[in-house]
Amino acid sequence: LKVLVLHGPNLNLLGTRQPEIYGGETLADVNNALASRAEAAGVTLAHWQSNHEGELIDAIQAARDDGTSAIIINPAAYTHTSVAILDALNAFDGTVIEVHISNVHKREAFRHHSYVSLRADGVIAGLGTQGYHAALDAVMAAASKP
Ligand code: DQA
Repeated sequence: LKVLVLHGPNLNLLGTRQPEIYGGETLADVNNALASRAEAAGVTLAHWQSNHEGELIDAIQAARDDGTSAIIINPAAYTHTSVAILDALNAFDGTVIEVHISNVHKREAFRHHSYVSLRADGVIAGLGTQGYHAALDAVMAAASKP
């Protein structure tokens, strides 16, 4: 099982960016915790963060033919704006789980709509960074089913 974790714009600031909303953990903390759980489970995990829409699209396209079977993506603000990220995910055959650290439905109306949700197999919001672990659990459970 090979899993790609993709983080969108401003998530490099995790830990210092509006900690009352996004918590005190850094992106490195999140990635390290996911990597050690994946390693213990024999799962190959890659992670990538970009502030640039096109770089996220390039990463999704690369996942089409490098053996990646699932993408866990927090598209951040691009969630609400990016048809291009939706199109890239539509061209990917594996599992897609959309993660939001905050509960976007409890926030401004412009955060209530997600283009990515039109493609996502599952959506997690409001569980903090624990949401990434829930997504990884779901992907690993699905892969171990006969
Ligand atoms: C976010 C929610 C988005 O609305 C916001 O633009 C983000 C982060 C989250 O993880 O809660 O940057 O995706």
